[in-house]
Amino acid sequence: MTVGIYFATTTGKTEDIAERLHGMISNANTPKDLADVNDVSEFSDLDGIICGIPTWNTGADIERSGTAWDSLLDDIGGLNLKGKKVAIFGLGDSSTYTENFCDAMEELHSHFVKAGASMVGYVSKSDYTFEESKSVIGESFCGLPLDEDSESDMTDDRLAKWAIQLKAEMTSLNQK
Ligand SMILES: Cc1cc2nc3c(=O)[nH]c(=O)nc-3n(C[C@H](O)[C@H](O)[C@H](O)COP(=O)(O)O)c2cc1C
Repeated sequence: MTVGIYFATTTGKTEDIAERLHGMISNANTPKDLADVNDVSEFSDLDGIICGIPTWNTGADIERSGTAWDSLLDDIGGLNLKGKKVAIFGLGDSSTYTENFCDAMEELHSHFVKAGASMVGYVSKSDYTFEESKSVIGESFCGLPLDEDSESDMTDDRLAKWAIQLKAEMTSLNQK
């Protein structure tokens, strides 16, 4: 049973988190940079997929991450990922970009839903201070938001809790 970790990044923070998460999961592949992935059909070979996406395109309706994820979204939506568990983490800044906090997670989420994936790893919005986010569904974020710009002191705790949550929700994942 294998879990793939994928990320895209502009200044390296999402890559750093992908590596920290990798250290918490014993059966995940080495994190892969989306910039090196030409064909997302490799997702079909995995039991679980964990995706990291930053938000850079402030206020945009589409292509919110400004990374390689943007051009692969339609390909992801066209896959058949029924039976696959998928979790998303997002990097953003809840202070400077408080009206668009981690917006890009939702765009990735909606394309994986289109592919039939089972989405896991939702996190309550009550643990965050922000004005608005497109990634809020009901009372939860559609993944784990992380803020290395304004709340980096909270990241270790948020990641550790999420790894425990994923172990329960993503049966193919073995936590270290
Ligand atoms: C020009 C610019 C625009 C940004 N826009 C947003 C935004 O709309 N929402 C948000 O939550 N964070 C925003 N951020 C913060 C980044 O998402 C954050 O720094 C993130 O950690 C970057 O991840 P990366 O290093 O993996 O690219 C923005 C940062 C910059 C410099």
